[in-house]
Amino acid sequence: MPTVVSGIRSTGNLHLGNYFGAVKNFIEMQHHHPTFFFIADLHSLTTHPVPDHLYVNVRQVLAEYLACGIDPEKATVFIQSDVPEIAELYLLLNMNAYIGELERTTSFKDKVRQQPDNVNAGLLTYPVLMAADIIIHKAHLVPVGKDQEQNLEMARTFARRFNRMYDVELFPIPRPYVFEGKDMVKIPGLDGSGKMGKSEGNAISLADAPEVIRKKVMRAVTDSGPTELNQQKPEVIQNLFTLLDVVSEPDVVAHFDKCYNECTIRYGDLKKQLAEDIIRFTSPIRERIEEMIADEVYLSKVAKQGAEKARASAVATLKEVREVIGIKKFY
Ligand code: TRP
Repeated sequence: MPTVVSGIRSTGNLHLGNYFGAVKNFIEMQHHHPTFFFIADLHSLTTHPVPDHLYVNVRQVLAEYLACGIDPEKATVFIQSDVPEIAELYLLLNMNAYIGELERTTSFKDKVRQQPDNVNAGLLTYPVLMAADIIIHKAHLVPVGKDQEQNLEMARTFARRFNRMYDVELFPIPRPYVFEGKDMVKIPGLDGSGKMGKSEGNAISLADAPEVIRKKVMRAVTDSGPTELNQQKPEVIQNLFTLLDVVSEPDVVAHFDKCYNECTIRYGDLKKQLAEDIIRFTSPIRERIEEMIADEVYLSKVAKQGAEKARASAVATLKEVREVIGIKKFY
């Protein structure tokens, strides 16, 4: 059965877009495959977070994942830095990763633009670490968003190169599982354009308090209202309806749709309803997040159990890798 591996950077605070995108798919996949989900805390060091933030964010993401329904009894949920074998495989893979190909990746070029004063070697070798994450568990499938496709292509290259160099079939070549089409609702942001994203500042976090959600929704961009019967909705308005579609009852959506078509809609009413429906949807998740953040014992139990399972798999692969490379014990 294909093994699934996926990671998320430890920047904290999943938002509704993450929920209806990656997380929903992860939850589905854990029932059908052996799955490894981890928090990529080593990757996040490329942006130099302060130590306290790093720790708080890792805990937050762990709690959020679990609160959404990722089940540590089904999937292996772990923190990247708890598995030192990943770092060793990363070192070994670096020997066969070429500066030229690393410099050409779009995510590296983007980062150089975003943080010109901190172009560190970790940024350059980000795809190598990501490849190590994936192939250390001999993954077949990697659920990723569009923005990670190139990094995954690099992981495929490194896996293939290793197999070819040593004439082995140690690593399966991991395939991307891209969320798109009907399994994926693209959640728009509240600023009228594009998709919901943390860095875009247009997101509703799963951990947002009701008051915060109300404020954010009431500030969402609208237009001056429809002027013709049954006119097509411009993007800003369609976005609000898309959100309504995922959190509200069908008759609520139908009601506002009818008001829009009859030009009697009051956006204030729509936003009030939308805010309350988002709150109804996120509240149980937010409460679970808060409970888990308060429950050190539970979180450490999950992290420990995940680390043990992930290490068992990583140790086995690394042993084979060392043998293939010719690293032998003298004692
Ligand atoms: N680079 C991914 C991101 O930014 C996170 C990540 C790290 C990852 N290692 C991975 C994703 C391995 C999939 C598989 O979201």
